[in-house]
Amino acid sequence: MILTGKRNSYPTYLLKIVLLAVILQTHPRAFAQEQKTFVIDASRPKGDINPNMWGIFFEDINMGADGGIYAELIKNRSFEFFRPMMGWKKLGKANEANMTILNRQEDQHQANPRYLRVDTRKVDSLIGLQNEGFRGIGIKEGLAYDFSLLYRQPNAGIRLKVELLDSLDQVIGQAEFQPNATKDNWQSGEARLTAQKTDPKGSFRLWFEGEGVIDLDMISLFPEDTWKGRKKGLRADMVQALADLKPGFIRFPGGCIVEGFDLSQRFQWKKTVGPIEDRQLIINRWNTEFAHRLTPDYFQTFGLGFYEYFLMAEDIGAEPLPILNCGMACQFNTGELVPLDELDPYIQDAVDLIEFANGSVDTRWGKLRAEMGHPEPFNLKLLGVGNENWGPQYVERLAIFQKILKEKHPEVEIIASAGPYSSGEYFEYLDKELRAMKVDIIDEHFYQEPKWFLNNASRYDDYDRKGPKIFAGEYAAHSRKATDAEQRNNWEAALSEAAFLTGLERNADVVQLASYAPLFAHIDGWQWNPNLIWVDNMNVYPTPSYYVQKAYSTNPGTQIIPLLEQEEPVAGRDSLYASSVLDNVHKQVIIKVVNTSATAKQVSFTVDGIKKLAKSAQVEILTIDDPLAYNPVGQQRQVMPKESTLPLKKNTLDLAMQPQSFYLIKIAY
Ligand code: AHR
Repeated sequence: MILTGKRNSYPTYLLKIVLLAVILQTHPRAFAQEQKTFVIDASRPKGDINPNMWGIFFEDINMGADGGIYAELIKNRSFEFFRPMMGWKKLGKANEANMTILNRQEDQHQANPRYLRVDTRKVDSLIGLQNEGFRGIGIKEGLAYDFSLLYRQPNAGIRLKVELLDSLDQVIGQAEFQPNATKDNWQSGEARLTAQKTDPKGSFRLWFEGEGVIDLDMISLFPEDTWKGRKKGLRADMVQALADLKPGFIRFPGGCIVEGFDLSQRFQWKKTVGPIEDRQLIINRWNTEFAHRLTPDYFQTFGLGFYEYFLMAEDIGAEPLPILNCGMACQFNTGELVPLDELDPYIQDAVDLIEFANGSVDTRWGKLRAEMGHPEPFNLKLLGVGNENWGPQYVERLAIFQKILKEKHPEVEIIASAGPYSSGEYFEYLDKELRAMKVDIIDEHFYQEPKWFLNNASRYDDYDRKGPKIFAGEYAAHSRKATDAEQRNNWEAALSEAAFLTGLERNADVVQLASYAPLFAHIDGWQWNPNLIWVDNMNVYPTPSYYVQKAYSTNPGTQIIPLLEQEEPVAGRDSLYASSVLDNVHKQVIIKVVNTSATAKQVSFTVDGIKKLAKSAQVEILTIDDPLAYNPVGQQRQVMPKESTLPLKKNTLDLAMQPQSFYLIKIAY
């Protein structure tokens, strides 16, 4: 504009040129395309990076386990829900006279006392049962489904007809099963059905043909295509989504589920191992947690129990990181406490868990692990004591755990909770106490607005390097309230997480572990929002936050190297955030850079300290011009990484950053 308009005389023209140069010099930020220069010095590594730094957090929330990754398709298979017939519908003239729930009084069935008795002798027509699955049953054409059950019948009078149904109750797969005469002994039976049609909202039906009496329990249906083809295993697409993250660790089983609404509902790992039919079902604490998201049919069968968690960790190459109850129920609920002099069983659980994971097969718990199929140890090295507990009550209990665990198992690092808050009185009290106790690792949680994540990109720049290490154990940017149905993992949230993570990476010498939370949510069964991966009965839908996590977790590097602008870390000035690492295994310099502003940025990176760099860099870009964009379930993804390459001029890379964008840059050497 300055140089247009009325024709200028030569001196005036010159004057204006000079003026423009002065403005450019003194007000560089007035121009969107101002060149920023970031210098990376690969010859000055600032510390080693834990190769397992970026992990995942698994909790059975949002139908993450039952109805989710645990591939069982029958809801309430053992009739142990609070209402024994929940999920089941009686068919034909079935009524309380010919279908009854009985409760075994024998000791060996205490964990699974109920069963269903079907008596067809006095009915003149076919009777049956239909199971609705978890928000329907996802059925795929051509796929086989494995039906199984426990049964007993005095005479071989009753035959079973099993059927897969589509959402209109049309039969789309069937098989027959003839139970033996078993007298009083329970026996297992199975049959395979193949689906002739795809339906995301199918169901399952069972007809009782012939005349007689039969007892039934553990009525089960699994797809054949489970993860690694393991019978009665996990949903392959959901495990694959985790494996693709190449997570360094998996934290399990939570979360608040560890604590329980009260102590009776706490997670007790010993009740989740051994034969599946002996694992005692309990209510899922998220069943009743949120009044506006009540999920009355949410229970924990523990088909995904501690053995399966360890196995999944091994399968996806992640360190197992269990969190155990420390003798306190959730302080947002009952806050029940175990008296200090009665804490022994809780501590014994921790000691025994280490034996279950690592002990020789001659030990009690090591033997059980071997019997379940894994004689080799699981190499447990990390153990959390308490989740989001706070106050002196926590410190007192933790101290007892710490003393005994350190005496017996100094090789296992203990993770202590910093409570649910990231600052303030509760946080500061615990931070001081935990540092004084010299705990190994402190678990900090952040569920905050995107703005908080941006403002905290330098949170760890000044953390004490000599004290405990940090586990950023649960974080997610929340645009609105976590229970808001309209809130999805939008791009604004993911971008702010990407910016915050540059700060974790820059401080990886103190931040040893990091995981987004929660991990999974079923679109028809969630309680909490946002979440890293959404699913329905058929597919998984990674969120923008998933792709951000993946950029970090699949490119962790081995050493932090400084990335500076005028000798300062890039942590928010001009809406830019950046970090860099060296990967001396794959011989790469890796840069993560975020532009949170609505304008484009011109950035150049100069890499010093490496003699020979490749002539081009691999670039992965995540961006979309709508901060509220998200990846809707059942539709095409809006936010996905795109790949390209960029040339290097000697040791300098010029990058034209799009507005609201996250770049992962890899330069080989
Ligand atoms: O991730 C959901 C919940 O958030 C976890 O269970 C709890 O630890 C936190 O409050």
